[in-house]
Amino acid sequence: MKREHEEITEMLSILERISERIRSEVEIDPEHLKRALEFIKVFADRCHHGKEEGILFPMMEGYGVPRAGPIGVMLMEHELGRGYVNEMAEAMERYRAGDVEALDIFAENAEKYIELLKQHIDKENDILFRIAETHIPRDEDEKLLERFEELENEKIGPGRHMELQNILKGLAAIYLKENQ
Ligand SMILES: [Fe+2]
Ligand SMILES: [Fe+2]
Repeated sequence: MKREHEEITEMLSILERISERIRSEVEIDPEHLKRALEFIKVFADRCHHGKEEGILFPMMEGYGVPRAGPIGVMLMEHELGRGYVNEMAEAMERYRAGDVEALDIFAENAEKYIELLKQHIDKENDILFRIAETHIPRDEDEKLLERFEELENEKIGPGRHMELQNILKGLAAIYLKENQ
């Protein structure tokens, strides 16, 4: 799950560059917005948050971690993130239809999403996953990984993760290389 966080964090850096370009009024290829959103919707939300909401959090609850507390906060932040993603998707459609001003709305929501998700990921890595490790017995690890795999195949389909990783690589080559 931490490795998935690294992929998501890389996409957040790309989104940050995109947002900076929008703010300095550089034209953006709508196809890039579409690909970034596809990664976020399908991988970050449906697949990764799906694993947390459908498998990890319920298992933690099963081992006595109350929902009120860090788990509840994580769930709330997933919901908040979905709101920003929907706003970005709507703005992208308007931009694709020729409305240049919609780009500002895209950037605004992208910035909120980046800020939210960065601290969300930090909290999960530093706090939530540690709670999970102390409550879920080691011999459940294999089952947990199997169920993650099953959920991934069921929610996004086999091979889809690799396609999305290619989207990530492609956008990273465009947005993350030039400033190095
Ligand atoms: Fe999460
Ligand atoms: Fe996460």
